[in-house]
Amino acid sequence: SLMVPCVQELARQPITNIPPRYIRADDDRSIAVFTPSVPVIDLQRLLHEDPLNSEMVKLHSACKEWGFFQIVNHGVNAFLLEKFKTEVGDFFKLPYEEKKKLWHQPNSLEGFGQHFVVSEEQKLDWNYIHIFMETELYITVVMSSMLIFTICCRETLEAYSLEAKNLAMTILTQMAKALGMKTEEMTQLFNDGMQSMRMNYYPPCPEPDIAIGLTPHSDADALTILYQLNDTEGLQIRKDGKWIPVKPLEDAFVINIGDIMEIVSNGVYKSIEHRAIVNSAKERLSVATFYNPKLDSELGPASSLINHQNQPVFRRMPLELYFKEFFARKLSGKSYLDFVKIENA
Ligand code: SIN
Ligand code: FE2
Repeated sequence: SLMVPCVQELARQPITNIPPRYIRADDDRSIAVFTPSVPVIDLQRLLHEDPLNSEMVKLHSACKEWGFFQIVNHGVNAFLLEKFKTEVGDFFKLPYEEKKKLWHQPNSLEGFGQHFVVSEEQKLDWNYIHIFMETELYITVVMSSMLIFTICCRETLEAYSLEAKNLAMTILTQMAKALGMKTEEMTQLFNDGMQSMRMNYYPPCPEPDIAIGLTPHSDADALTILYQLNDTEGLQIRKDGKWIPVKPLEDAFVINIGDIMEIVSNGVYKSIEHRAIVNSAKERLSVATFYNPKLDSELGPASSLINHQNQPVFRRMPLELYFKEFFARKLSGKSYLDFVKIENA
């Protein structure tokens, strides 16, 4: 990524107009309409199935029709979540001088700034992220991360990260059942998987109608768990050509299917385009964890889902190659999934 200004600092200036580079094309910011909200799944009900399997049916259709759902009764410790919320908030309140030390290096995915900026002409998001890092497994090996962890409370971050990972595994196992996929195939693929985390800070924007918080994109990972830290709305998903808001629900996580899960499910589950919008009055904070198989895995449709009637619609490739391809591009819709699609399938 190329270096770009810090939006959090920009938003601190008494400006009434945003710089031209933040003014977006109409298509990126077309107005959302009000329509039904994304499904809500109760995890306890899902795990302790009723005879009608109703929660499982709901999960399956949420993943097929929406690619998004909110999860309640998820069992993640409320005290930890409260602590995490406070510490992430404090982190973004640090003086710019402190945070600048963590500004990401041009070829790194870790640290502050905006990622996926590949040209000087490219339009920018009104979003000051990001920490983007490998959590857990890489803590001891990636030295640059140590600084980040020290500043933003490593213990809480690790605890949150572990909870997110466990939740991801639980949900993936339930998805295997809903898909009719061998559970062991799912767990083998995802055990000791790779997780990264992104923290988003969207400052109030003086011209919210012509800017965008986060460019429309689909997630490249398998499963994303989003925690919205305050009740400011901003996330929208594209369904049937319309932008639909995902209203923050207290004590819930937003879960979404990423491209890898679309591939593993052989196209049954959908990775849906989404974006974040901004507003003039309130800041917005969110944290996304991205869950993936191990980097040395092979990516492709689950073999337990393939048979005579169900031919693969995606080709197989090393996961590492897939990520290399993804990070070389700018975020833009779902276009890079075509790279994996089998033509005429
Ligand atoms: C957000 O809702 O703030 C971020 C959504 C995303 O990570 O794509
Ligand atoms: Fe996303």
